[in-house]
Amino acid sequence: MPVAGIGLGCDYNPEQWSPDVWREDVRLMRQAGVDLVAINIFGWSYLEPRPNEYDFDGLDRIVELLHEHNIKINLGTGTSSPPPWLTTMHPEILPTAPDGTKRYPGGRQAWCPSSPVFRRRALALVERVARRYGKHPAVVLWHVSNELGCHNAHCYDEETAEAFRRWLRKRYGSIDGLNDGWGTSFWSQRYGDWSEVQPPRQALSARNPGQILDFHRFSSDELLDYYRDEVEVLRRHSTVPITTNFMVTAHIRNLDYWTWAPEVDVVANDHYLDHRLDEPTAELAFAADLTRGLAGGRPWMLMEQSVSAVSWQPHNLAKAPGEMIRNSLTHVARGADSVCFFQWRASAQGAEKFHSALVPHAGTDTEAWRAVLRLSETLDRLDEVAGTTVDTDVALLFSWQSWWSCDGESRPSHAVRYLDQVHLAYNALREIGVTTDVVAPAADLSRYRLVIVPCLHLVSDQEAAAIDAYVAAGGHVLVTFYSGIVDQDDRVRLGGYPGAFRDLLGVRVEEFAPLPPDAEVTLDNGAKGRLWTERLCTTTAEPVARYVDGPLPGVPAVTRNAYGAGAAWYVATELRAGALRDVVREASRMAGVRPLGPEGDGSVEVVRRGDASRSYVFVVNHGNRDVEYAVTGLELVTGAAVDGLLRVPSGEVRVVREESI
Ligand code: GAL
Repeated sequence: MPVAGIGLGCDYNPEQWSPDVWREDVRLMRQAGVDLVAINIFGWSYLEPRPNEYDFDGLDRIVELLHEHNIKINLGTGTSSPPPWLTTMHPEILPTAPDGTKRYPGGRQAWCPSSPVFRRRALALVERVARRYGKHPAVVLWHVSNELGCHNAHCYDEETAEAFRRWLRKRYGSIDGLNDGWGTSFWSQRYGDWSEVQPPRQALSARNPGQILDFHRFSSDELLDYYRDEVEVLRRHSTVPITTNFMVTAHIRNLDYWTWAPEVDVVANDHYLDHRLDEPTAELAFAADLTRGLAGGRPWMLMEQSVSAVSWQPHNLAKAPGEMIRNSLTHVARGADSVCFFQWRASAQGAEKFHSALVPHAGTDTEAWRAVLRLSETLDRLDEVAGTTVDTDVALLFSWQSWWSCDGESRPSHAVRYLDQVHLAYNALREIGVTTDVVAPAADLSRYRLVIVPCLHLVSDQEAAAIDAYVAAGGHVLVTFYSGIVDQDDRVRLGGYPGAFRDLLGVRVEEFAPLPPDAEVTLDNGAKGRLWTERLCTTTAEPVARYVDGPLPGVPAVTRNAYGAGAAWYVATELRAGALRDVVREASRMAGVRPLGPEGDGSVEVVRRGDASRSYVFVVNHGNRDVEYAVTGLELVTGAAVDGLLRVPSGEVRVVREESI
């Protein structure tokens, strides 16, 4: 971690302000206890105002000013948005949309990841920045580009087509291999030569799903390759840790972060509450747990969040009093060792001028600023938690590749969306008070009592075998519908669904029978299902519940199979929230999982962080009633001793260092 304890940080864009504001800024940063400041994120047009003419005066002054005030620097390489002279000189670097039209500059990230000109120019800037600041004592972290692939992950120009072909040659070896992988016998798509292969540009009908899936994989790899190139330059001049900010979030799914995570020195995530979702706070908890999964269970950085409203959703809700602090501490509970914000001072101009900031437009005589001071004090009191890890014996499997494949163009039901299904399963665990790790399908599962496998549509042979072996050895799994359907090439696994998990689950499905979006089915235990049913026969499983109406009365909807030394549950419909919770509760109970939190609507979250010698219980109360929790120790936020019963007021968070473990 770049700073000791639980760090407080922010993005800082001094280019937007005059030097007298900079002096005021560092004074206020000191007052707020800011430890780490990300600068030069969008610095390119400032540092290289004309081709090959560099001007580091402004950045030098900022670096020195921060250093004098003992504020550490998370130094951006400055390459996230090309300057106007570059896109004017080389319009070929601009991204191309699926319909072949160019996307113009005027926003940000207007560059094609496969553009050699862009890469050469960007690396030249990185070289200068790294050489100049690589050994500066204030620089404790490198911030490569910014949210790589946020807008420009998929480019459809000729340079990309060439790079895609090179990537495909490596993957398939021969054009016949590609034909086989993509199933090109369908619709007369057979290729005779690599030059005929294109990115999946806009077409008149549904496109080839294998081609689309590989284009996702390629595009993620292409940006990772770009990241590696920047890292290589930085490494030549600096030994400081290097990272880039991930976007583990509900609305962006462009990169397979399981392949990225091993390449960053510190996992860092940007998270913004998304009010387009039904349960934004539950999604925050999920994203934090997934980020911890990317960090291999180790502490990670919250690189960006907002103090209050963002400016890029249709309705940008301000945070309620206490919400910012509560959400920040939810990230800490779930493994973050630093809490950083976009951005320090609210911009007066530009596309994000209505985005909240630590210093709002109205200045420091504001509730937002006072909340920042309170957060800072609280984080200081939690410093001793840094370095500990989250304690749980339940895992949920998550896969970007499954997301890409599941949400394809032609599928049984467009109302079945991967992330919704993942969230439903995650929320059921959260509502019964169970903390879960979110891990890759190929992860080592041996230490978990229960593994939830929601809608894992695409699963490789190896992944399926690992899940199988985990259960055979005594593990418990709960699989939800539309899992195990296709292999790594998006090819349907034949012989009956859910192909990869048929034996494990002891069921065989002849046909999917999705429901219209507003229909419901009833099960014989009174539960309701929606969106999905399937013509299922048990082979070795026991039916747990059957449909009493809908298209398949009498057919099992929930099953349980004893398998080796373990057990495998299957849920073949989208159980309405309470009913899914009932099944998850029963599966957890039978697996010997002991929930830490109370059961409810998820508004009270209890998470334990610790190590061999310490244990901290976080109780987060998002609800509008005070709650009590049984624990003994020292409460760190208020400094009060707790003897058996902790009271957590509505909207607050308490953290108890437990007595002797
Ligand atoms: C992130 C980005 C920041 C800022 C922020 C606004 O996507 O990295 O630069 O745009 O969102 O919420």
